[in-house]
Amino acid sequence: MTDASTRGAGQGDGRPFLTNRQGHPVHDNQNQRTIGARGPATLENYQFLEKISHFDRERVPERVVHARGVTAYGYFEAYGAWGDEPISRYTRAKLFQERGRRTDVAVRFSTVIGGRDSSEAARDPRGFAVKFYTEDGNWDLVGNNLGVFFIRDAIKFPDVIHALKPDPVTFEQKPGRIFDFMSQTPEAMHMLVNLFSPRGIPADYRHMQGFGVNTYKWVDADGNTKLVKYHWMPKQGVRSMTEEDAANVQADSLGHATKDLYEAVARGEHPEWELLVQMMDDHDHPELDFDPLDDTKTWPEQDFPPRPVGRMVLNRMPANYFAENEQISFGTGVLVDGLDFSDDKMLVGRTFSYSDTQRYRVGPNYLQLPVNQAKNARVRTNQRDGQMAYGVDGGESDTHDPQVNYEPSILGGLQEAPGPAHGEQGPEITGRLTRERIPRTNDYLQAGQRYLLMEEWERDDLVRNFTDLLSQCDRRVRERMLWHFLLVENDLGLRVAEGLGVDPSEVAHLEPLPGQTLTEEDERRLANLG
Ligand code: HEM
Repeated sequence: MTDASTRGAGQGDGRPFLTNRQGHPVHDNQNQRTIGARGPATLENYQFLEKISHFDRERVPERVVHARGVTAYGYFEAYGAWGDEPISRYTRAKLFQERGRRTDVAVRFSTVIGGRDSSEAARDPRGFAVKFYTEDGNWDLVGNNLGVFFIRDAIKFPDVIHALKPDPVTFEQKPGRIFDFMSQTPEAMHMLVNLFSPRGIPADYRHMQGFGVNTYKWVDADGNTKLVKYHWMPKQGVRSMTEEDAANVQADSLGHATKDLYEAVARGEHPEWELLVQMMDDHDHPELDFDPLDDTKTWPEQDFPPRPVGRMVLNRMPANYFAENEQISFGTGVLVDGLDFSDDKMLVGRTFSYSDTQRYRVGPNYLQLPVNQAKNARVRTNQRDGQMAYGVDGGESDTHDPQVNYEPSILGGLQEAPGPAHGEQGPEITGRLTRERIPRTNDYLQAGQRYLLMEEWERDDLVRNFTDLLSQCDRRVRERMLWHFLLVENDLGLRVAEGLGVDPSEVAHLEPLPGQTLTEEDERRLANLG
């Protein structure tokens, strides 16, 4: 085909013309500029160089965890009260106050360990991150679908992720590495019992629960606080897959859950979740057999009933995957007035980690991107410049002097907002600076209760998965995992031992791990092993 026939193809049918980023019309998008038809090419060919060099930079680093995911938009609608009791009794956060009040949301569902193009049918926790664009600025609730986590101290996060990620030499995900770490991490048992049951492979994103997992606080108008945990319940119901189901889905598509969400929203089937909150008085609750700030534990529902506070509907999908799914950035530090942190040692570490990675991954001005902006609040800062600075927030249409980019000033510029009704009212804290485990670890009880609550087919699947994976592990890892399982629930330990062809009394000689504290019930079970 000649140059003339390709050049200008499509002209005259009303479609807009292509330009480069400088606004210059592109008359020929098929041929570089060369000396003669057979080259050589010239170096001043701006249009070609711009095209190629932009392409060379199309990727930003994928998320170090939760790389594969899908974003959707919608709204959160508040219920305003529990029966006769207004929510304002417990939190002054504006988005929860009146019945029917709507707040825009962006949600990103994800898997954790695989890369950007990995399978969505993998056994993996699912991320459930919600950005509420409130009038007081953004609130991010960054949770998962399983309600608990592997560890309770943020300092262990890089290790647990390294163990779950592929081997650094062969790049193969290996049960031997995963269970090596887990066997030395008794607090992981509750998460493992969930993850290796069918709940570890949700059927898709519409049919899974979400949980805030970490403990947060609610703050009322007088500054009084309660501890809270958040739960998202899908109106669509919960559906999970066995290994076999997942293998079939995966044989067909690596991205079935993203596809399912796009197609459901396009059909007008807008998925919906109810948000429920569990609440406790804000102290350490010595009467409980677990610590309320421990994210490896759930709060018993009979003692702390989950109470509905609103519903969320997803009704729109992104127009651009990169701008809205790759660049969207959530963080546990992103809270609004009326919501607060607790001293949960995971939460503090997470709160540093999210914005730190986003400044690296997306860039220091990631909050200027449309998907991350506090679009329903007015943003006015004295932050300036940096890579890809897009504008000066607070400048235009404000009466203040944009030349005063500091505070305080008598000349102009921004001033501090009037204080909230009360000052900072945190608890008084005394204690030694230390490195210690929390006292009430109780690592097995809830894991065992979870096992007993499962349906028969779920237990069968769990036992099969553990047996299959542990058979691929080093003998020492296998024995230690069996020891933990026997402490979790005798039936679980005995069934996995049988599957592995191991006599359970062979693991009875194992001592508790260094520093491990056992409950009386654990000791009793251990004595029975011998
Ligand atoms: C994503 C760190 C624990 C849920 C991430 C990212 C990092 C991270 C660095 C990537 C963020 C990005 O590139 O934008 C940590 C650390 C943790 C921790 C240090 C523990 C100390 C958890 C827990 C949960 C969780 C317990 C669940 C409750 C998520 C979710 C995302 C995520 C949902 C994906 C957010 C998105 O869709 O963009 N985490 N994480 N993480 N994390 Fe965590």
